Amino acid sequence: MFKFRTEDPAQLKTDMIVVPVCEDASITGNATVSGLVEQARSYPEFKGKTGDRMLLYRVDGVQSERVLFLGTGKKEKADAEAFRTIAGKAVRQAIDAGLEGIVFCMPDTGMNGLGPEDLAEAMMEGACLGNFLFDLYKQERRKKTLKTIGFHTDLKSARQYADLPDRVTTICRGTLLAREWVSMPPNEKRPDRFSRSIVKAADKENLTLVVLDDRDLKKNKMHALMAVGSGSETRPRMVIIDYRPEGYEKTIVLVGKGVTFDSGGINLKPGGSLEDMKQDMAGAAAVAATLITAARLELGHRIIGLLPLVENMPSGDAYRPGDIVRTASGKTVEIGNTDAEGRMILADAIAYAIKQYNPDNLIDMATLTGACVVALGQKIAGVFSSDEALAGLIVASGKKTHERCWAMPMPEDYKEILKSDFADIRNVGKSRWGGAIAAALFLSEFTGDVPWAHIDIAGPAYITSANAYCEPGGTGFGVRLLIDVIEKL
Ligand code: BES
Ligand code: ZN
Ligand code: ZN
Repeated sequence: MFKFRTEDPAQLKTDMIVVPVCEDASITGNATVSGLVEQARSYPEFKGKTGDRMLLYRVDGVQSERVLFLGTGKKEKADAEAFRTIAGKAVRQAIDAGLEGIVFCMPDTGMNGLGPEDLAEAMMEGACLGNFLFDLYKQERRKKTLKTIGFHTDLKSARQYADLPDRVTTICRGTLLAREWVSMPPNEKRPDRFSRSIVKAADKENLTLVVLDDRDLKKNKMHALMAVGSGSETRPRMVIIDYRPEGYEKTIVLVGKGVTFDSGGINLKPGGSLEDMKQDMAGAAAVAATLITAARLELGHRIIGLLPLVENMPSGDAYRPGDIVRTASGKTVEIGNTDAEGRMILADAIAYAIKQYNPDNLIDMATLTGACVVALGQKIAGVFSSDEALAGLIVASGKKTHERCWAMPMPEDYKEILKSDFADIRNVGKSRWGGAIAAALFLSEFTGDVPWAHIDIAGPAYITSANAYCEPGGTGFGVRLLIDVIEKL
């Protein structure tokens, strides 16, 4: 779908040429593109400011019917995200117009520490992520994604980053896969079905998949996962995805929260916050998609994805506040609130991971707390780690991919709030303050000495209004981030 184009842009036969324009500098050395930019600037309504957009039809000497100009803002502020954004917007505009193919004119100067290759990568990401529709459930599918997206550059650059289109497409396909799972309605992804969907998606890759069912979970003493699932007619599952390349040196475990619907259980959530709780498996979706992507990219480390899948429902069999549950680690948990179910299932998965694999690093990803959304808003994830270097690495990867992460504290003395009179620990603090920290401290009780990080994605996993390269629904947050982290570990 992605292709480099090196002919004179004026001769390109495509439905639309897209030209990024910097407000205060020229970012292209190509004579044709410079001429087009000059024309655009001659209109008072187009300055190249962030958000500026102008479409010209039938420009003299240009074969393509349309030329779209998009502003990147001032050069000193134009970062990779500015280029991702304009690429996503252009693709969306082309889809809305019913076009089949477009070509981007890529900048050939660097800026703000980014080379032309970085800018090309960002534009390809924005274009690929923007070229996605979730319309499986619409009878009438009015819109179609673009068939071809070209990137115009000179011959030398096209040779130099010849591998870029495939790499970006592979990684972004992972994000789109995660989006699809998260947007899927909860009646279609209850644990058994979701596990089958994961197995099917991973089928052709170099991965080993095992699905633990009811009996296996009991055998492995995962009573916390079983307790959370006890209110649902559909039994929990644990999907284990193992990527084991030859000659690997490090073992990394990724754990993803897979609550296919979080009603809250007996502590039922109020009306307004229920319908989006199909997103509560976004951690599992991101981890599964990351494993599939890692196999496609043939990464060097062994990576094991553990996905506890469960539906949190109220019923006569549901687990109750006051219950005491023995986790796979042997530690007992007193249930203060059945809506704090994510940490229960993660506790079992983490304990299992440490016992089975003794990993060099363990990262869990979870839509864990509303409190994290209160703290950081809907666009930034919280990172909690016992290992400063690991947290720093995750934050740095988040800067690069614009899946932003912020390091949060885990003060030892706060552990006091999880004290239980009857069991080893409670699943919620007695006070409602610092809820995201309390959840992270709860998890830390199960991680032993393994360098571990917890990423709370309750904010950025799901959006209810579109952004530049994502429609409402799952965002696929975490896949690009985790791939970048793993490549740096
Ligand atoms: N799945 C929710 C957290 C969540 C909130 C995810 C918003 C996505 C968006 C989680 O299981 C939950 O309900 N957490 C409770 C914890 C509380 C009972 C201690 C919360 O955040 O209110
Ligand atoms: Zn919950
Ligand atoms: Zn939840």
